[in-house]
Amino acid sequence: MTTLVTGGAGFVGSHLCERLLDAGETVIAVDNMVTGSRANVADFLGNPRFSLIQHDLLQGLPELPKVDRIFHMASPASPPAYQRHAIATLRVNAETTRQLLDIAVRDGARLLFSSTSEVYGDPLDHPQREDYRGHVSSTGPRSMYDESKRYAEALMMAYHDAHGVETRIVRIFNTYGPRMDPGDGRVVSNFVVQALRGEALTIYGDGSQTRSFQYIDDLIEGIFRLMNSDHHLPVNIGNPNEFTVLELAEKVLRIAESTSEVHFLPLPPDDPVRRRPDITLARDLLDWQPEIPLEEGLERTVEAFRQVLFGDQRTGRQSPAAQSRAIS
Ligand SMILES: NC(=O)c1ccc[n+]([C@@H]2O[C@H](COP(=O)([O-])OP(=O)(O)OC[C@H]3O[C@@H](n4cnc5c(N)ncnc54)[C@H](O)[C@@H]3O)[C@@H](O)[C@H]2O)c1
Repeated sequence: MTTLVTGGAGFVGSHLCERLLDAGETVIAVDNMVTGSRANVADFLGNPRFSLIQHDLLQGLPELPKVDRIFHMASPASPPAYQRHAIATLRVNAETTRQLLDIAVRDGARLLFSSTSEVYGDPLDHPQREDYRGHVSSTGPRSMYDESKRYAEALMMAYHDAHGVETRIVRIFNTYGPRMDPGDGRVVSNFVVQALRGEALTIYGDGSQTRSFQYIDDLIEGIFRLMNSDHHLPVNIGNPNEFTVLELAEKVLRIAESTSEVHFLPLPPDDPVRRRPDITLARDLLDWQPEIPLEEGLERTVEAFRQVLFGDQRTGRQSPAAQSRAIS
């Protein structure tokens, strides 16, 4: 099985590559490192079944052998990143998805697109089921992300209907874990880095907005099962347990044994007050549900970030991934 993973050096993509390699597949990752890093794939870069092509997908697809499966994970994913790279975000979700669909037609490959809970916008229905149509602004500060993901879903459906492409669409909810970019501005990585460095934790708004946080291993298991299913329509993969942002901050402070203070800043426009997945479909269809509680996931994440930021304090050495991140 030859599998293409776009965005394979990103947070989710690198964990996915690792999982596919463990399953015995040959994996080709394509990444331009705009928000990814070689450090994320350093642990398996030497695996003969893994290859990394450093390439900007906005220049078109690189030359590829026949592939059996495609996971399209490439896209800036944190609000600061997709707002900084607005046009590139629109293009990689729109143009690149179409080009990959053409490859899927050429090779008879199955294509999984990484969509997002942001297709629901600032939702009026709670929790969000897949048939909820969303409450989204086509011109707001998140529109480059939300609307390009929505367009890509429509494109997937059109190719499924017109060309019989085996489409898989995962709507990913807030995910965290090792290999998140420490500087990418997402709430978990922000809090963990601030707590470990002894800096004040910044909360936007009063911290009462809720989020559901999914540990990366749960997401990868869900994506893996969805790809192997025969369901061509969107499926939510997320953790339905809700916590307020303030609760998250308190847990991070305790686990990191940090004495940092908490600072409150104004809520940015279009920040969803609440988002929570209904995962009935994933349970029924994939026999999947999240297994890692927030505390445990945070412990693993804090440990991994400690390594990246400060190295192994017992030996004074850094892991290969941490060394490579420090160099890159
Ligand atoms: N992490 C989450 O909580 C979350 C939530 C919802 C959806 N998603 C989706 O999952 C996917 C992966 O997200 P992530 O959290 O791993 O983000 P990430 O930024 O860590 O990974 C994205 C990867 O894509 C690469 N990339 C972006 N544009 C590219 C281009 N033009 N050419 C080649 N490579 C390019 C980046 O360099 C990066 O390595 C994204 O599509 C994102 O929209 C993630």
